Amino acid sequence: MCGIFGYVGIRDDAPQLVLAGLKKLEYRGYDSWGIAAKDNGRVQIEKRVGKIGDAVTTLRPSHVGLGHTRWATHGGVTDANAHPHVDCTGRLAIIHNGIIQNFRELHHDLTARDHTFRSDTDTEVVAHLVEEELENAADGPQRLVLALMAAFRRLTGLNAVAALDVASGHLAAAKSGSPLTLGWTEGGALLASDYSALLEHTREMTFLDEHQAALLTPDGIEVYDVTTGQAITPIVNVVAWKAEAADLAGFPDFMTKEIHEQPDVLRRIAREGVADAEALAHLIEAASETHLVGCGTAAHAALAGQYLLARVAGRRAFFANGSEFGYLERFLGPGALAIALSQSGETIDILDSMRTAKARGVELAALVNVEGSSLYRLADHAILLGAGPERCVLATKSFTAKLGILLLTAHALIGQTAVAQALLERAASEIEALLGDWRRDFIRQIAERIYRQEHLYMIGRGPSYPQALEAALKVKEVSYVHAEGFAGGELKHGVIALIEPGTPCLVLAPDDETRDDVISGAMEVKARGGHIIGVSPRPDPAFDDHIPVADVGEASGLVQAVPGQLLGYYLALLRGHDPDKPRNLAKSVTVK
Ligand code: F6R
Repeated sequence: MCGIFGYVGIRDDAPQLVLAGLKKLEYRGYDSWGIAAKDNGRVQIEKRVGKIGDAVTTLRPSHVGLGHTRWATHGGVTDANAHPHVDCTGRLAIIHNGIIQNFRELHHDLTARDHTFRSDTDTEVVAHLVEEELENAADGPQRLVLALMAAFRRLTGLNAVAALDVASGHLAAAKSGSPLTLGWTEGGALLASDYSALLEHTREMTFLDEHQAALLTPDGIEVYDVTTGQAITPIVNVVAWKAEAADLAGFPDFMTKEIHEQPDVLRRIAREGVADAEALAHLIEAASETHLVGCGTAAHAALAGQYLLARVAGRRAFFANGSEFGYLERFLGPGALAIALSQSGETIDILDSMRTAKARGVELAALVNVEGSSLYRLADHAILLGAGPERCVLATKSFTAKLGILLLTAHALIGQTAVAQALLERAASEIEALLGDWRRDFIRQIAERIYRQEHLYMIGRGPSYPQALEAALKVKEVSYVHAEGFAGGELKHGVIALIEPGTPCLVLAPDDETRDDVISGAMEVKARGGHIIGVSPRPDPAFDDHIPVADVGEASGLVQAVPGQLLGYYLALLRGHDPDKPRNLAKSVTVK
């Protein structure tokens, strides 16, 4: 939930370098931010409430710096609670991502031993624990990492912590559950909670595993097993993403950029995704049962996958939300296949339920965007989405990428990948056209007419039902307009009571067997004064507004997704909200 960035090396602009890194990580948390750097044997700290946006740092030049963007868990959003936190001696600066479950008892014991606390955070206990451990640790170059590991072993919960020690000028970090990536460069070592922030410096990275720690010095990086305290040989990966992919590239914000990247992402899947889709199809064929699991937008992709597998390949797959899947564990066993869908690969609800499934002998496949992420490493078969870095907190291109791979997989099951490739190409062209012609402006005009509404409904049936859920999620999370998606047939079983004159209702009416029935539902809404916005290849008298979208057969969901994304985007702008950083949200949800 928080962003971490650190540097130690020959450069003396560590504060600026860390600030720039944090700006790339702001999507992970944006309540407040802070940086620590070494200055003449003392720790200098700058920390502030608010988004890091255009901030500059006034810290003096330094060869070592450590910074943090916060998404508050313990303690309100104040300057004092912003990270880094210092120990009593002023030698250490500590930052943290996660929740320290036993923080109350640690706090109580440390207070009894006369430590002074300056914040309400759980994080600060780590500063004082490392302070004590440093006193006990033997002198030597590993002193900081040994002390940090000893302190880390006393924490419960899922955490990533990092420390800057001004005495040695070193950084150390340890993790369980929260991501940390180490970057290797000629003149120094880097640390970040998301490797896209490291790309401008290096593509050589080490992904810290659970219960591993690292010592970062100007001479390089050492990796340790936290449990045993022993050094281990780090694995250095050269990652596929390039630095340019994480920039705005002239777009006003990342949401716009990532919506526009969808055609390219789908074309790449059409071109390069067949082998992965066939491999996944083999796993499905060999499995006694298949479960599709995801959270939020990824859950909607999983549900869409259930329809695709059923309709294209006649295969039954079970859908579950990541946070619920674990509760079904007694039904899981060897022979079953779980396909976990996740952009970040760090969503704790997915990781927990997948670990449960794996422990019960379930084969684990993952559709995941971030190479080296926890899910990527946990899965028996990881398929990369290849969508490139997704920096907007809202998932857009990762959603359509998941759908694209599932479409290809469903066709691979019946030996028709060429059909899916052609559908993906057509869907890509249609999305490109929609983003470039009058329809985009038309959706903005619709948003202008409805942005003061308090409620918005979306309906779809069959394969369009997950799209209705996704359109509603897009609208509510970015514009804060209450939006609900429903299976078209469910409306009359209760929800219709909420329809008032003027209530907007987005109706997904593709040219398939659901069209007539979903339009009947739209008529019922219209009869109660609802304002019907049809997303459909053909007009219909039921529609007050019609957003035409091409019929792309089983790939229609890919095209249907885009009007919901644009509607959410324009509603957010009209209501004065930052589309990239909605309130209360963070890009990867690494806490329960
Ligand atoms: C919505 C959104 C979230 C994520 C969810 C899962 O726009 O971004 O609902 O889809 O938190 O995240 P990942 O895919 O990283 O597991």
